[in-house]
Amino acid sequence: MFATTTLRLATRSRSTAAAMSTARRGLQVLHTVEAVRAVRGATRANGQTLALVPTMGALHDGHLALMATAKQHADVVASSIFVNPAQFAPHEDLDQYPRTLPADVTALTEQGVVSAVFAPTAAEMYPSGITTNVAEQRGTFVSVAGLSHQLEGEIRPHFFRGVATVVAKLLGAVQPDVVVFGQKDAQQCVVVRRMITDLLLPVTMIVAPTVREADGLAMSSRNRYLSPAERAVAPALSAGLLAAQTAFEQGEKRRDALLAIVDRELRAVDTKGEVKVEYVSIASATDLAEVSGEIGPDGAIMSAAVRLGSTRLIDNVLLGTTL
Ligand code: PAJ
Repeated sequence: MFATTTLRLATRSRSTAAAMSTARRGLQVLHTVEAVRAVRGATRANGQTLALVPTMGALHDGHLALMATAKQHADVVASSIFVNPAQFAPHEDLDQYPRTLPADVTALTEQGVVSAVFAPTAAEMYPSGITTNVAEQRGTFVSVAGLSHQLEGEIRPHFFRGVATVVAKLLGAVQPDVVVFGQKDAQQCVVVRRMITDLLLPVTMIVAPTVREADGLAMSSRNRYLSPAERAVAPALSAGLLAAQTAFEQGEKRRDALLAIVDRELRAVDTKGEVKVEYVSIASATDLAEVSGEIGPDGAIMSAAVRLGSTRLIDNVLLGTTL
């Protein structure tokens, strides 16, 4: 009993001390590849492993949970904050995307887990230049064929090419031992894992669970665009998916029955039909092929995208599989 208490106190005081020392040192905010490579070099010289958490900033508790997961897998945690033009289409919200670097740095300093933030300019990340118009783009891009055209890729045809490209660049710039992504963006996890495998990149990829608000809504930088009325019905999406996941865990393996559960739960919360469903998918976690009939032993990803006014929300649950 006494030993347990002592251990707990010791653990707490160590983590508090670590947080305070990060805060005291101040978080290093680095803008160049050269500076981030110097940090990588120093950690390597100290025999320390490094984890990278790529983000586009506007950090919320979902992002902060990824930092905490990263710390479980490496000695030092770095995060990148870069709004990547290549994953936006010309008509999308690149200019409107929230850029809140000072607030992000404050949140990371308070959390005390991350030692360095890599916040490069577009010119630093794209030496050949970058435009959102794919026809005018020059230089090197990474396409993950077979996994990028369906689901999110159907609505955003060049999105995963942009994501794969920037993640390859971030891995090249930072050279982490571990890279952490959120399950919230399940197709992104499938695409990036395939890229890491296919390009033989020497990094271990970790996927951390989706962090949700108390009412089930998956945290997202885009939730801030919801009006109060939209925010009230937004949990319809997670309610549907989580109900289907529960049914799956209780033995329901039929695709049609699981889709019907999503539909029923969604409509039970969204009584006025404000949530416009773009897709509900049950697909293989390996090749994203839609499952027909019954879900087999390898399980599946159940994912959905909806529109609420002008805001697009995505979410997913895992049915007997991992990412
Ligand atoms: P961003 O949308 O900022 O997300 C950064 C990371 O946070 C991603 O791995 C995402 O899946 C994760 N994340 C977002 N919301 C989450 C939640 N509620 N719970 C758990 N994890 C969550 O995804 C991107 O940026 C970009 O595409 C990027 C990978 C950085 C490439 O530009």
